[in-house]
Amino acid sequence: MELDEKKVALINKQTSPIEDEYLYENLPKFPIKATSDAKEIKKADIVLICVPTPVDEYYNPNLAPVRGACEMAASNLKKGALVVLESTVNPGVSEEVVRPIFEKHEFKIGTDVFIAHCPERINPGDPKWNVTNIPRVVGAFTKKGLEKAINFYESIIDGEIHPMKHIREAEACKVVENSFRDVNIAFVNELAKSFDALDIDVKDVIDGASTKPFAFMPHYPSCGIGGHCIPVDPYYLIERAKRAGFDHKFLRTSRAINNSMPAYTVELLQDKLNLAKMPLNGTNVGILGIAYKANVDDDRESPYYEIVTALQKHGAKVHSFDPHIKEKSSVKTLATLLKKSDAIILVTNHKEFNELNGKLLKENNIKVIIDGKNALNKKDIEKNKVIYKGIGR
Ligand SMILES: NC(=O)c1ccc[n+]([C@@H]2O[C@H](COP(=O)([O-])OP(=O)(O)OC[C@H]3O[C@@H](n4cnc5c(N)ncnc54)[C@H](O)[C@@H]3O)[C@@H](O)[C@H]2O)c1
Repeated sequence: MELDEKKVALINKQTSPIEDEYLYENLPKFPIKATSDAKEIKKADIVLICVPTPVDEYYNPNLAPVRGACEMAASNLKKGALVVLESTVNPGVSEEVVRPIFEKHEFKIGTDVFIAHCPERINPGDPKWNVTNIPRVVGAFTKKGLEKAINFYESIIDGEIHPMKHIREAEACKVVENSFRDVNIAFVNELAKSFDALDIDVKDVIDGASTKPFAFMPHYPSCGIGGHCIPVDPYYLIERAKRAGFDHKFLRTSRAINNSMPAYTVELLQDKLNLAKMPLNGTNVGILGIAYKANVDDDRESPYYEIVTALQKHGAKVHSFDPHIKEKSSVKTLATLLKKSDAIILVTNHKEFNELNGKLLKENNIKVIIDGKNALNKKDIEKNKVIYKGIGR
Protein backbone atom coordinates (compact mmCIF):
# COMPACT_ATOMS: atom_id res chain seq x y z
CA MET A 1 0.00 0.00 0.00
CA GLU A 2 1.60 3.26 -1.19
CA LEU A 3 0.02 6.70 -1.57
CA ASP A 4 2.19 7.77 -4.49
CA GLU A 5 0.57 6.46 -7.70
CA LYS A 6 3.79 6.90 -9.70
CA LYS A 7 5.67 4.60 -7.30
CA VAL A 8 2.81 2.07 -7.41
CA ALA A 9 2.99 1.98 -11.22
CA LEU A 10 6.77 1.58 -11.22
CA ILE A 11 6.77 -1.20 -8.62
CA ASN A 12 4.07 -3.06 -10.56
CA LYS A 13 6.35 -2.91 -13.60
CA GLN A 14 9.10 -4.42 -11.38
CA THR A 15 11.02 -1.15 -11.68
CA SER A 16 12.70 0.32 -8.61
CA PRO A 17 11.43 3.83 -7.79
CA ILE A 18 14.83 4.62 -6.22
CA GLU A 19 18.37 4.26 -7.58
CA ASP A 20 19.62 1.05 -5.97
CA GLU A 21 21.60 -1.75 -7.62
CA TYR A 22 20.20 -4.40 -5.27
CA LEU A 23 16.62 -3.46 -6.13
CA TYR A 24 17.37 -3.26 -9.87
CA GLU A 25 18.62 -6.82 -9.70
CA ASN A 26 16.12 -8.33 -7.28
CA LEU A 27 12.78 -6.62 -7.87
CA PRO A 28 12.18 -8.47 -11.17
CA LYS A 29 13.06 -11.78 -9.44
CA PHE A 30 10.53 -11.23 -6.65
CA PRO A 31 7.65 -9.33 -8.23
CA ILE A 32 5.45 -7.69 -5.61
CA LYS A 33 2.05 -6.14 -6.17
CA ALA A 34 1.75 -2.52 -5.07
CA THR A 35 -1.55 -0.72 -4.63
CA SER A 36 -2.88 2.66 -3.53
CA ASP A 37 -6.13 1.10 -2.38
CA ALA A 38 -6.26 1.01 1.43
CA LYS A 39 -9.03 -1.59 1.28
CA GLU A 40 -6.40 -4.15 0.22
CA ILE A 41 -5.14 -4.02 3.83
CA LYS A 42 -8.21 -6.08 4.79
CA LYS A 43 -6.58 -9.12 3.16
CA ALA A 44 -3.30 -8.81 5.06
CA ASP A 45 -2.16 -11.01 7.96
CA ILE A 46 0.91 -8.82 8.40
CA VAL A 47 1.09 -5.05 7.91
CA LEU A 48 4.48 -3.30 7.84
CA ILE A 49 4.44 0.48 8.22
CA CYS A 50 7.50 2.26 6.85
CA VAL A 51 6.40 5.84 6.21
CA PRO A 52 8.60 8.95 6.47
CA THR A 53 9.49 10.43 9.86
CA PRO A 54 10.77 13.92 9.03
CA VAL A 55 11.33 17.03 11.14
CA ASP A 56 9.88 20.46 10.42
CA GLU A 57 11.90 23.65 9.82
CA TYR A 58 12.40 24.02 13.61
CA TYR A 59 13.59 20.39 13.89
CA ASN A 60 10.40 19.24 15.59
CA PRO A 61 9.52 15.60 14.79
CA ASN A 62 6.56 15.26 12.45
CA LEU A 63 4.65 12.06 13.20
CA ALA A 64 1.72 12.88 10.88
CA PRO A 65 2.67 10.16 8.32
CA VAL A 66 2.93 7.55 11.12
CA ARG A 67 -0.45 8.63 12.50
CA GLY A 68 -1.97 8.63 9.00
CA ALA A 69 -0.65 5.16 8.16
CA CYS A 70 -1.80 3.74 11.53
CA GLU A 71 -5.28 5.25 11.06
CA MET A 72 -5.42 3.73 7.58
CA ALA A 73 -4.32 0.33 8.86
CA ALA A 74 -6.68 0.39 11.85
CA SER A 75 -9.64 1.39 9.64
CA ASN A 76 -9.08 -1.60 7.36
CA LEU A 77 -7.41 -4.26 9.50
CA LYS A 78 -8.73 -7.77 9.97
CA LYS A 79 -8.73 -9.17 13.48
CA GLY A 80 -5.64 -11.11 14.58
CA ALA A 81 -3.25 -9.31 12.22
CA LEU A 82 0.34 -8.38 13.08
CA VAL A 83 1.24 -4.69 12.61
CA VAL A 84 4.93 -3.76 12.62
CA LEU A 85 6.13 -0.17 12.60
CA GLU A 86 9.46 -0.02 10.74
CA SER A 87 9.80 3.78 10.56
CA THR A 88 12.52 5.32 12.71
CA VAL A 89 10.88 6.80 15.80
CA ASN A 90 11.82 7.93 19.29
CA PRO A 91 11.24 5.61 22.23
CA GLY A 92 7.59 5.92 23.22
CA VAL A 93 5.92 6.32 19.81
CA SER A 94 4.45 2.80 19.75
CA GLU A 95 2.97 3.36 23.21
CA GLU A 96 1.94 6.98 22.89
CA VAL A 97 0.91 7.20 19.22
CA VAL A 98 0.45 3.77 17.60
CA ARG A 99 -1.30 1.85 20.37
CA PRO A 100 -4.00 4.49 21.10
CA ILE A 101 -4.99 4.60 17.42
CA PHE A 102 -5.67 0.84 17.32
CA GLU A 103 -7.42 0.98 20.69
CA LYS A 104 -9.63 3.83 19.43
CA HIS A 105 -10.67 1.49 16.61
CA GLU A 106 -11.58 -1.07 19.31
CA PHE A 107 -8.74 -3.49 18.75
CA LYS A 108 -7.57 -5.21 21.90
CA ILE A 109 -3.76 -5.35 21.86
CA GLY A 110 -2.47 -8.94 22.15
CA THR A 111 -5.69 -10.59 20.92
CA ASP A 112 -7.33 -8.52 18.14
CA VAL A 113 -4.05 -7.02 16.94
CA PHE A 114 -0.37 -7.71 17.62
CA ILE A 115 1.83 -4.62 17.50
CA ALA A 116 5.60 -4.74 17.10
CA HIS A 117 8.44 -2.43 16.17
CA CYS A 118 11.35 -3.46 13.94
CA PRO A 119 13.34 -0.43 12.78
CA GLU A 120 14.44 -0.48 9.15
CA ARG A 121 18.26 -0.35 8.90
CA ILE A 122 18.83 -0.25 5.15
CA ASN A 123 21.83 1.70 3.82
CA PRO A 124 20.96 2.52 0.18
CA GLY A 125 23.70 1.80 -2.33
CA ASP A 126 25.64 -0.42 0.09
CA PRO A 127 27.16 -3.27 -1.94
CA LYS A 128 27.53 -5.56 1.10
CA TRP A 129 24.57 -4.97 3.40
CA ASN A 130 21.04 -5.32 2.06
CA VAL A 131 17.57 -6.02 3.35
CA THR A 132 18.14 -9.78 3.55
CA ASN A 133 21.43 -9.84 5.48
CA ILE A 134 21.18 -6.86 7.85
CA PRO A 135 20.37 -8.15 11.36
CA ARG A 136 17.24 -6.67 12.92
CA VAL A 137 15.99 -5.86 16.42
CA VAL A 138 12.35 -6.45 17.28
CA GLY A 139 10.18 -5.40 20.22
CA ALA A 140 6.47 -5.92 20.84
CA PHE A 141 3.78 -5.23 23.44
CA THR A 142 3.07 -8.91 24.15
CA LYS A 143 4.98 -12.21 24.14
CA LYS A 144 2.78 -13.58 21.37
CA GLY A 145 3.24 -10.42 19.30
CA LEU A 146 7.01 -10.72 19.67
CA GLU A 147 6.91 -14.38 18.62
CA LYS A 148 4.81 -13.57 15.55
CA ALA A 149 7.11 -10.74 14.53
CA ILE A 150 10.27 -12.83 15.01
CA ASN A 151 8.77 -15.72 13.01
CA PHE A 152 7.90 -13.34 10.20
CA TYR A 153 11.33 -11.69 10.01
CA GLU A 154 13.13 -15.03 10.31
CA SER A 155 11.13 -16.22 7.31
CA ILE A 156 12.39 -13.39 5.08
CA ILE A 157 15.77 -12.34 6.53
CA ASP A 158 19.00 -14.35 6.81
CA GLY A 159 20.59 -11.99 9.36
CA GLU A 160 20.05 -12.36 13.12
CA ILE A 161 16.65 -11.28 14.47
CA HIS A 162 17.37 -9.95 17.94
CA PRO A 163 14.42 -9.75 20.36
CA MET A 164 14.25 -6.75 22.70
CA LYS A 165 12.67 -6.90 26.13
CA HIS A 166 10.46 -3.90 25.51
CA ILE A 167 9.11 -2.18 22.39
CA ARG A 168 10.61 1.09 23.68
CA GLU A 169 14.09 -0.49 23.62
CA ALA A 170 13.64 -1.52 19.98
CA GLU A 171 12.68 2.06 19.14
CA ALA A 172 15.68 3.39 21.07
CA CYS A 173 18.13 1.12 19.18
CA LYS A 174 17.64 2.87 15.88
CA VAL A 175 17.90 6.44 17.20
CA VAL A 176 21.00 5.40 19.13
CA GLU A 177 22.59 3.89 16.00
CA ASN A 178 22.06 7.04 13.97
CA SER A 179 22.94 9.39 16.83
CA PHE A 180 26.18 7.41 17.30
CA ARG A 181 27.04 8.18 13.69
CA ASP A 182 26.01 11.81 14.03
CA VAL A 183 28.17 12.48 17.12
CA ASN A 184 31.19 10.70 15.65
CA ILE A 185 30.91 12.71 12.45
CA ALA A 186 30.48 15.89 14.52
CA PHE A 187 33.71 15.03 16.32
CA VAL A 188 35.69 14.75 13.08
CA ASN A 189 34.00 17.82 11.63
CA GLU A 190 35.15 19.73 14.71
CA LEU A 191 38.63 18.24 14.29
CA ALA A 192 38.59 19.39 10.65
CA LYS A 193 37.97 22.99 11.73
CA SER A 194 40.60 22.78 14.48
CA PHE A 195 43.17 21.19 12.15
CA ASP A 196 42.49 23.83 9.50
CA ALA A 197 43.59 26.36 12.13
CA LEU A 198 46.59 24.20 13.10
CA ASP A 199 47.53 23.34 9.49
CA ILE A 200 47.27 19.58 10.01
CA ASP A 201 45.72 17.23 7.44
CA VAL A 202 42.76 15.64 9.26
CA LYS A 203 42.37 12.86 6.69
CA ASP A 204 45.99 11.77 7.14
CA VAL A 205 45.53 11.83 10.91
CA ILE A 206 42.33 9.75 10.80
CA ASP A 207 43.99 7.27 8.44
CA GLY A 208 46.95 7.10 10.82
CA ALA A 209 44.75 6.66 13.90
CA SER A 210 42.85 3.90 12.04
CA THR A 211 45.95 1.70 12.10
CA LYS A 212 45.12 1.08 15.77
CA PRO A 213 43.28 -2.24 15.53
CA PHE A 214 41.02 -1.66 18.56
CA ALA A 215 39.02 1.13 20.21
CA PHE A 216 39.11 3.44 17.17
CA MET A 217 36.65 3.63 14.32
CA PRO A 218 37.29 6.04 11.45
CA HIS A 219 34.71 8.66 10.56
CA TYR A 220 35.45 11.40 8.03
CA PRO A 221 34.56 15.10 7.87
CA SER A 222 32.64 16.62 4.97
CA CYS A 223 30.75 19.66 3.72
CA GLY A 224 27.63 18.42 5.53
CA ILE A 225 25.42 15.48 6.44
CA GLY A 226 22.31 14.71 4.41
CA GLY A 227 19.71 12.00 3.92
CA HIS A 228 16.48 11.16 5.66
CA CYS A 229 18.14 9.53 8.70
CA ILE A 230 21.29 10.89 10.36
CA PRO A 231 20.50 14.63 10.31
CA VAL A 232 16.91 13.90 11.38
CA ASP A 233 16.71 11.00 13.82
CA PRO A 234 18.68 12.53 16.74
CA TYR A 235 16.00 15.25 16.98
CA TYR A 236 13.40 12.57 17.73
CA LEU A 237 15.34 11.56 20.84
CA ILE A 238 16.29 15.13 21.76
CA GLU A 239 12.66 16.29 21.64
CA ARG A 240 11.15 13.31 23.47
CA ALA A 241 13.81 13.46 26.21
CA LYS A 242 13.18 17.20 26.55
CA ARG A 243 9.50 16.48 27.29
CA ALA A 244 10.69 14.06 30.00
CA GLY A 245 12.86 16.82 31.53
CA PHE A 246 16.23 15.76 30.09
CA ASP A 247 18.45 17.99 27.95
CA HIS A 248 20.58 16.05 25.41
CA LYS A 249 23.39 18.66 25.34
CA PHE A 250 25.84 16.37 23.57
CA LEU A 251 23.41 15.47 20.78
CA ARG A 252 22.36 19.09 20.35
CA THR A 253 26.00 20.19 20.06
CA SER A 254 26.71 17.47 17.52
CA ARG A 255 23.73 18.52 15.44
CA ALA A 256 24.85 22.16 15.60
CA ILE A 257 28.41 21.28 14.48
CA ASN A 258 27.18 19.14 11.61
CA ASN A 259 24.63 21.76 10.58
CA SER A 260 27.44 24.36 10.43
CA MET A 261 29.45 22.50 7.77
CA PRO A 262 27.76 23.87 4.60
CA ALA A 263 28.38 27.47 5.73
CA TYR A 264 31.95 26.54 6.73
CA THR A 265 32.51 25.11 3.23
CA VAL A 266 31.45 28.42 1.68
CA GLU A 267 33.77 30.28 4.10
CA LEU A 268 36.63 28.09 2.88
CA LEU A 269 35.81 28.99 -0.71
CA GLN A 270 35.68 32.68 0.16
CA ASP A 271 39.11 32.44 1.86
CA LYS A 272 40.71 30.68 -1.08
CA LEU A 273 39.14 33.00 -3.67
CA ASN A 274 40.65 35.81 -1.63
CA LEU A 275 44.09 34.30 -2.27
CA ALA A 276 43.30 34.42 -5.99
CA LYS A 277 42.17 38.07 -5.56
CA MET A 278 38.61 37.18 -6.53
CA PRO A 279 35.48 38.20 -4.60
CA LEU A 280 32.79 35.58 -4.17
CA ASN A 281 30.35 38.21 -5.41
CA GLY A 282 29.99 37.70 -9.17
CA THR A 283 32.19 34.59 -9.33
CA ASN A 284 30.86 31.57 -11.24
CA VAL A 285 30.80 28.69 -8.79
CA GLY A 286 30.13 25.19 -10.11
CA ILE A 287 28.73 22.63 -7.71
CA LEU A 288 29.39 18.99 -8.37
CA GLY A 289 26.69 16.82 -6.82
CA ILE A 290 23.21 17.48 -5.48
CA ALA A 291 22.66 14.07 -3.85
CA TYR A 292 23.51 13.70 -0.17
CA LYS A 293 25.86 10.80 -0.83
CA ALA A 294 27.76 9.09 -3.64
CA ASN A 295 26.02 7.18 -6.40
CA VAL A 296 22.42 7.69 -5.23
CA ASP A 297 19.68 9.97 -6.57
CA ASP A 298 18.42 11.08 -3.13
CA ASP A 299 18.79 14.79 -2.32
CA ARG A 300 16.81 14.86 0.94
CA GLU A 301 18.52 17.14 3.50
CA SER A 302 21.53 17.37 1.16
CA PRO A 303 24.12 20.01 2.19
CA TYR A 304 23.93 21.14 -1.47
CA TYR A 305 20.89 23.29 -0.68
CA GLU A 306 22.47 25.24 2.18
CA ILE A 307 25.67 25.69 0.21
CA VAL A 308 23.70 27.18 -2.71
CA THR A 309 21.78 29.50 -0.36
CA ALA A 310 25.01 30.73 1.26
CA LEU A 311 26.69 31.25 -2.12
CA GLN A 312 23.73 33.17 -3.51
CA LYS A 313 23.58 35.32 -0.38
CA HIS A 314 27.12 36.41 -1.19
CA GLY A 315 26.26 37.17 -4.82
CA ALA A 316 27.97 34.16 -6.43
CA LYS A 317 26.64 32.85 -9.76
CA VAL A 318 25.83 29.21 -9.07
CA HIS A 319 25.83 26.34 -11.58
CA SER A 320 25.23 22.72 -10.68
CA PHE A 321 25.57 19.25 -12.13
CA ASP A 322 24.56 15.88 -10.75
CA PRO A 323 24.53 12.95 -13.19
CA HIS A 324 22.09 11.14 -10.88
CA ILE A 325 19.71 14.12 -10.49
CA LYS A 326 19.75 15.67 -13.97
CA GLU A 327 16.31 17.28 -13.60
CA LYS A 328 17.61 19.57 -10.83
CA SER A 329 21.00 20.28 -12.45
CA SER A 330 21.46 23.64 -14.17
CA VAL A 331 23.77 22.13 -16.82
CA LYS A 332 23.72 18.78 -18.57
CA THR A 333 27.37 17.66 -18.46
CA LEU A 334 30.48 17.87 -16.32
CA ALA A 335 32.30 19.46 -19.26
CA THR A 336 29.74 22.32 -19.44
CA LEU A 337 29.93 22.89 -15.70
CA LEU A 338 33.72 23.13 -15.80
CA LYS A 339 33.59 25.52 -18.75
CA LYS A 340 31.15 27.86 -16.96
CA SER A 341 32.95 27.88 -13.58
CA ASP A 342 35.80 29.86 -12.03
CA ALA A 343 35.65 27.81 -8.84
CA ILE A 344 34.26 24.40 -7.92
CA ILE A 345 32.75 22.85 -4.81
CA LEU A 346 32.60 19.06 -4.81
CA VAL A 347 29.53 18.21 -2.71
CA THR A 348 29.05 14.56 -3.72
CA ASN A 349 31.79 12.09 -4.60
CA HIS A 350 29.84 10.32 -7.36
CA LYS A 351 31.90 7.83 -9.39
CA GLU A 352 31.33 10.07 -12.45
CA PHE A 353 33.55 12.71 -10.80
CA ASN A 354 36.54 10.38 -10.42
CA GLU A 355 37.96 11.77 -13.66
CA LEU A 356 38.37 15.18 -12.05
CA ASN A 357 42.11 15.89 -11.90
CA GLY A 358 44.50 18.81 -11.85
CA LYS A 359 45.03 18.82 -15.63
CA LEU A 360 41.29 18.97 -16.36
CA LEU A 361 40.75 21.75 -13.82
CA LYS A 362 43.68 23.75 -15.21
CA GLU A 363 42.51 23.31 -18.82
CA ASN A 364 39.17 24.78 -17.78
CA ASN A 365 40.82 27.69 -16.00
CA ILE A 366 39.42 26.71 -12.58
CA LYS A 367 41.12 28.86 -9.95
CA VAL A 368 39.92 27.19 -6.75
CA ILE A 369 38.42 23.84 -5.85
CA ILE A 370 36.83 23.03 -2.49
CA ASP A 371 36.76 19.28 -1.99
CA GLY A 372 33.73 18.83 0.26
CA LYS A 373 34.29 15.08 0.51
CA ASN A 374 38.13 15.01 0.70
CA ALA A 375 37.91 12.66 -2.28
CA LEU A 376 40.28 14.29 -4.80
CA ASN A 377 44.03 14.08 -5.34
CA LYS A 378 45.27 17.20 -3.55
CA LYS A 379 48.90 16.85 -4.68
CA ASP A 380 47.98 16.45 -8.35
CA ILE A 381 45.61 19.44 -8.25
CA GLU A 382 48.14 21.69 -6.52
CA LYS A 383 50.85 20.58 -8.97
CA ASN A 384 48.65 22.07 -11.70
CA LYS A 385 48.55 25.42 -9.87
CA VAL A 386 44.88 25.18 -8.93
CA ILE A 387 44.14 26.20 -5.33
CA TYR A 388 42.87 23.13 -3.48
CA LYS A 389 41.14 23.05 -0.10
CA GLY A 390 39.53 20.05 1.53
CA ILE A 391 37.55 19.93 4.77
CA GLY A 392 40.34 19.91 7.33
CA ARG A 393 43.05 19.27 4.75
N1 LIG B 1 15.83 5.83 3.32
C1 LIG B 1 16.66 5.15 4.09
O1 LIG B 1 17.80 4.91 3.75
C2 LIG B 1 16.19 4.63 5.43
C3 LIG B 1 17.03 3.74 6.14
C4 LIG B 1 16.61 3.25 7.36
C5 LIG B 1 15.41 3.68 7.89
N2 LIG B 1 14.63 4.56 7.21
C6 LIG B 1 13.38 4.99 7.82
O2 LIG B 1 12.30 4.45 7.07
C7 LIG B 1 11.19 5.35 7.07
C8 LIG B 1 10.79 5.66 5.65
O3 LIG B 1 11.87 6.32 5.00
P1 LIG B 1 12.01 6.38 3.43
O4 LIG B 1 13.34 6.95 3.12
O5 LIG B 1 11.63 5.07 2.82
O6 LIG B 1 10.88 7.44 3.10
P2 LIG B 1 10.23 7.75 1.66
O7 LIG B 1 9.61 9.08 1.78
O8 LIG B 1 11.25 7.51 0.59
O9 LIG B 1 9.16 6.61 1.46
C9 LIG B 1 8.08 6.44 2.29
C10 LIG B 1 6.86 6.21 1.44
O10 LIG B 1 5.75 6.21 2.32
C11 LIG B 1 4.65 6.70 1.57
N3 LIG B 1 3.60 7.10 2.50
C12 LIG B 1 3.55 8.20 3.26
N4 LIG B 1 2.44 8.17 4.04
C13 LIG B 1 1.79 7.00 3.76
C14 LIG B 1 0.61 6.39 4.21
N5 LIG B 1 -0.15 6.97 5.12
N6 LIG B 1 0.27 5.20 3.70
C15 LIG B 1 1.03 4.60 2.77
N7 LIG B 1 2.16 5.13 2.29
C16 LIG B 1 2.53 6.31 2.78
C17 LIG B 1 5.22 7.85 0.77
O11 LIG B 1 4.42 8.11 -0.36
C18 LIG B 1 6.60 7.30 0.41
O12 LIG B 1 6.62 6.73 -0.87
C19 LIG B 1 11.65 6.58 7.85
O13 LIG B 1 11.24 6.48 9.18
C20 LIG B 1 13.17 6.48 7.77
O14 LIG B 1 13.80 7.14 8.85
C21 LIG B 1 14.99 5.03 5.98
